[in-house]
Amino acid sequence: PLNDCRLIELPKITDPRGNLTFIEGGNHIPFDIKRVYYLYDVPGGSDRGAHAHKNLHQFVVAMSGSFDIVLDDGERQRRFQLNRSYYGLYICPMMWRKLDNFSSGGVCMVLASAPYSEDDYIRDHDEFIARVRGNGGQ
Ligand code: TYD
Repeated sequence: PLNDCRLIELPKITDPRGNLTFIEGGNHIPFDIKRVYYLYDVPGGSDRGAHAHKNLHQFVVAMSGSFDIVLDDGERQRRFQLNRSYYGLYICPMMWRKLDNFSSGGVCMVLASAPYSEDDYIRDHDEFIARVRGNGGQ
């Protein structure tokens, strides 16, 4: 599953007046976009995330500044650094994620495949491990 998550380079229209990047759901990223949210005014050094989603697909872009995303599929971990507006990280369902190393002024935009639903979250790491190892969190 960790291999399903990947950095995706986006179209970039370079222009002396300022560069432009665009994202089409189902084209540049492998899901339709139902929600957009962003983290901003993040104090340098702050940590976010530390949960998984049962069904949600997400695509994360550093719109300004930089931060890291650590993905964990229950077996392996991988750290990605995001620091450009023309690529982002696709996160598939059932992936524990933590965001850290925020630069001051860092802005994190997330495109998501569904509206907000607390039922879709797994906020307990032990429960996440139990579910990915196939015993349904019992
Ligand atoms: P959460 O996803 O836990 O934050 P992060 O993982 O980035 O640290 O969300 C923080 C709070 O915001 C939580 O109370 C739920 C709420 N929230 C919404 O109401 N709608 C949303 O789309 C999101 C992402 C969060």
